[in-house]
Amino acid sequence: MRMYDIILKKREGHELSKEEIEFFVDGFTRGHIPDYQASALLMAIFFKKMNEKETKDLTMSMVNSGEIIDLSSIEGIKVDKHSTGGVGDTTTLVLGPMVASLGVPVAKMSGRGLGHTGGTIDKLESIEGFNVNMDRDTFIKNVNDRKIVIGAQTGNLVPADKKLYALRDLTATVEDISLIASSIMSKKIASGADAIVLDIKLGEGAFMKTESEAKKLAEAMVSIGKMVNKKVVAVISDMDQPLGYAVGNALEVKEAIDTLKGIGPLDLTELCLTLGSYMVILAGKAKDKDEARQLLKESISSGRAFLKFKEFIAAQGGNIDFVMDCSKMHPAKYIIEVKSDREGFISKIHAEGVGLIAMKLGAGRITKESIIDLSVGVVLNKKRGDRVFKNDILAYIHASDLNIGNELAEELLNCFIINEKYLENVPLIYDIIR
Ligand code: URA
Ligand code: CA
Repeated sequence: MRMYDIILKKREGHELSKEEIEFFVDGFTRGHIPDYQASALLMAIFFKKMNEKETKDLTMSMVNSGEIIDLSSIEGIKVDKHSTGGVGDTTTLVLGPMVASLGVPVAKMSGRGLGHTGGTIDKLESIEGFNVNMDRDTFIKNVNDRKIVIGAQTGNLVPADKKLYALRDLTATVEDISLIASSIMSKKIASGADAIVLDIKLGEGAFMKTESEAKKLAEAMVSIGKMVNKKVVAVISDMDQPLGYAVGNALEVKEAIDTLKGIGPLDLTELCLTLGSYMVILAGKAKDKDEARQLLKESISSGRAFLKFKEFIAAQGGNIDFVMDCSKMHPAKYIIEVKSDREGFISKIHAEGVGLIAMKLGAGRITKESIIDLSVGVVLNKKRGDRVFKNDILAYIHASDLNIGNELAEELLNCFIINEKYLENVPLIYDIIR
């Protein structure tokens, strides 16, 4: 087989065989196929597309490029959740304990964040003593004992994706449905999940900018799941404003704790109830959406969800004093008010812009080696649809450096789009694909 022929075949719009796709993925991962040929094929795929079967074959070739985690010694159906990248998205910290309190095993291996804000692991490290490193046996034992573990990703999961994603990033071939779907699904399948709930973000700051694109991506991922015998549910949710109020590491942990106690932001709570319902159904712990939702609501109102969070933090060495009194958790040095310069209705809050501001404050990594500041970030005070008057506080900047904070306050003001007229609110959940 020659790489040249594979590129030519796709350039002419033909279907690639499983063997050809495997030849490419395996050869590229091992370094036998040069970047220029891989780039040419990616661009041909971008223009000529892949069908469902090719996309499934690409996904499984990528899964087989590295380690595959075996979670079969964990009792029950392992349901994983993945979000395509939101700003201020605290759902994992809420969903994990919430569904675990209903007996759904949560065996999560998370990465650290790059850009925007930190990843789930970074956020959890806001709690003093919290440990994300453990051996495989301890990991499995903890899930079986307590139903929830969140650990740092180890091992060599889907090396093909690491190389391909870096190349796509440099060759303008990121935004292809088959390439995105195979990239995400290969990582979930290699992580050992039996079933997957996807949260596909739709909006200006998201990969998918229109409802029809988001739907196509959802369908592509559900279809991969069907072909490899893993149940997949995809929820399409709004990202035309950050989720909840807080964007930043310790700030988001506090917001997650509030939500687990039943006093969190409405949109974050609603999204967690929706995603959580499908996790509970796929795990076989409820027969339908209404029952699942009821169980989740009870787990919050009875205090069981928050209890599970405390149990999970303590089991991984975290200091519970920080959870009981969040003011101990990395308070920022300066809190700066951002006030409205006009009157009107908020129609949009640029999510990507807010994420970038949090990153510039120090909440996210600019390079892999950056050290993040757990205390800083943005806390919104108003959300889309709210009426505001001149000098109303729109948001607070939590900063470690007063000059940087003040500079970014102006930038943050520009993230708020304020109209004279009230514009009809867009939905939080657009669609659910099963
Ligand atoms: N997230 C991924 O992991 N891969 C993509 O291709 C896009 C988003
Ligand atoms: Ca948030």
